[in-house]
Amino acid sequence: MIEKGGMLYEGKAKKIFLTEKEDEVIQYFKDDATAFNAEKRGTIHEKGVVNNKISTRLFQELADSGIPSHFIQQINDREMLARRVQIILVEVVVRNRATGSIITRLGLEEGMLIAPPLVEFFYKDDSLGDPLITEDHIRLLKLATPSQVTELRNQALKINEVLLPFFLKRGMMLVDFKLEFGLWNGQIILADEISPDTCRFWDVQTGERMDKDRFRKDLGRIEETYQEVLKRVCTPLN
Ligand SMILES: Nc1ncnc2c1ncn2[C@@H]1O[C@H](COP(=O)(O)OP(=O)(O)OP(=O)(O)O)[C@@H](O)[C@H]1O
Ligand SMILES: [Mg+2]
Repeated sequence: MIEKGGMLYEGKAKKIFLTEKEDEVIQYFKDDATAFNAEKRGTIHEKGVVNNKISTRLFQELADSGIPSHFIQQINDREMLARRVQIILVEVVVRNRATGSIITRLGLEEGMLIAPPLVEFFYKDDSLGDPLITEDHIRLLKLATPSQVTELRNQALKINEVLLPFFLKRGMMLVDFKLEFGLWNGQIILADEISPDTCRFWDVQTGERMDKDRFRKDLGRIEETYQEVLKRVCTPLN
């Protein structure tokens, strides 16, 4: 039985709790949903359960491909045990197709194929609206060293190489996703979550949005779609 200690941090979608072990934390997934830098707020029923189970399955898939993460074990429907890391305040976004902020920023066509995939860095600071930053900005703000930035980019692209075919086999296009990494024993490892909150998935057949864009754009059928993603991700393929 893993003893849950005091709450270390409460974010917009999750809570982080201490454990009796110095370097382990419990990540609790809430149903709270936010968008547009928390200007839009709501609740998606059972989202926390869905995102905990999907993240668990994907962290295991990545581990099978030799990609380390903070994931230790799933504790229950809403909680996972994780290595406690020092979060690097650089959110790493990988894009396989153009949608969302890059459309308005660069005037690209919705859905345009981006090959090879593109990597963008954002400063993890809600008060500034998580702005897009360059490697020189990362150096100026001392968020990471140049070699660590190279490591972040390489790990993000390796993760994309594993997850892109994983989702295609399940009839889903991995359009883009946001990753958070942390320092653990001096090593950079993947942290946080990988879920419909942090990724964009389009159904390969219908083009249907299967992610938090349903909440961002009031497309409806939000709970059902999150459950559909859970089913596709966690049902063993024949
Ligand atoms: N293994 C870990 N150890 C320590 N902190 C972690 C770990 N994994 C994730 N975190 C941090 O815990 C918090 C999780 O909560 P949540 O995702 O709701 O946060 P947030 O930062 O408010 O929102 P957002 O990440 O959406 O900007 C994040 O700040 C995340 O960086
Ligand atoms: Mg988060």
